[in-house]
Amino acid sequence: MAGGHGKYSHNVWNRQDALRLQRQDAAAAKAAERERKLQETATGKAEAERLNAAYHHYHATGRPLVELKLAMSLDGKIALKTGPARWITGPEARAEGHRLRARADAVLIGGGTLRADDPLLTVRGVGGRNPIRVVLSRGLRLPLAARLFHDGAAPTWVLGGDRAARGARVRRRLRELGVPVVASPPPVRAALRVLAACGVRRLLVEGGAEVASAFLAARLVDRIHLHVAPILLGGEHPGWPGALGVKRMGSALRLDSVEVKRLGADLAIEGNLRAAR
Ligand SMILES: NC(=O)c1ccc[n+]([C@@H]2O[C@H](COP(=O)([O-])OP(=O)(O)OC[C@H]3O[C@@H](n4cnc5c(N)ncnc54)[C@H](OP(=O)(O)O)[C@@H]3O)[C@@H](O)[C@H]2O)c1
Repeated sequence: MAGGHGKYSHNVWNRQDALRLQRQDAAAAKAAERERKLQETATGKAEAERLNAAYHHYHATGRPLVELKLAMSLDGKIALKTGPARWITGPEARAEGHRLRARADAVLIGGGTLRADDPLLTVRGVGGRNPIRVVLSRGLRLPLAARLFHDGAAPTWVLGGDRAARGARVRRRLRELGVPVVASPPPVRAALRVLAACGVRRLLVEGGAEVASAFLAARLVDRIHLHVAPILLGGEHPGWPGALGVKRMGSALRLDSVEVKRLGADLAIEGNLRAAR
């Protein structure tokens, strides 16, 4: 005899089984709900800790927490001299890069990377919102057709430009595109002050070599994420970093609390740097 609806009641002879199944299902649903709440709490806690770290850092130093992420070959090369950096690392490392972006308030590159790669700097393939996109430039020799000036995916700011001879024209064109050019003197410390004043508490610096080196040389990087691909590119290709002002082994920039993890075929090496106050 068939009766009722759903998987429990199609056969009265199985009523006992159906009741047992119903009870099991209810217990499983409760367990899943408990698990979901626990996970929510854990995610919430991790998120709160993350926000707190940047908040406390800002209040202790007056500047954003700065993370530097770079993808490189085993021999320290970050691009091909003949073309863009895409893709040194594999999909897992790139997904991790997107996760780092998603938790940053702003992501920053130099004019060189904008000219070479025309990057979007948006969060793709993982959850999360797009950070503010910041291009650091002295000369404002920026490609006005660059995709991030046009896609409207996130606020985009140009920072620097105080030495730009042709600044007025580029500023006007960028303003027409809705991209403010925020004056900032060249030292990266000044750029951080400007970003802090604009509410940026966590900044992800994504290169290239000159910008990464400038932040490192000023001892303004708090955490490094190096994604190392098991490839060799050779000395003819651009590497990093530039001069860091290290005179003795003892004054080398040293990571602490180092974590190493596999990201597909690549390695992620992460650690904190003791930054200048
Ligand atoms: N593997 C990776 O993870 C990765 C990541 C990013 C980029 N890359 C590669 O790196 C290469 C580009 O490197 P790069 O060293 O030429 O470029 P970059 O560091 O992105 O840009 C250098 C430019 O940034 C601006 N700049 C630097 N310091 C500044 C300061 N203190 N104040 C204001 N502006 C400042 C200047 O822009 P203006 O010239 O406009 O004045 C300078 O020319 C590309 O080949 C790219 O593919 C690799």
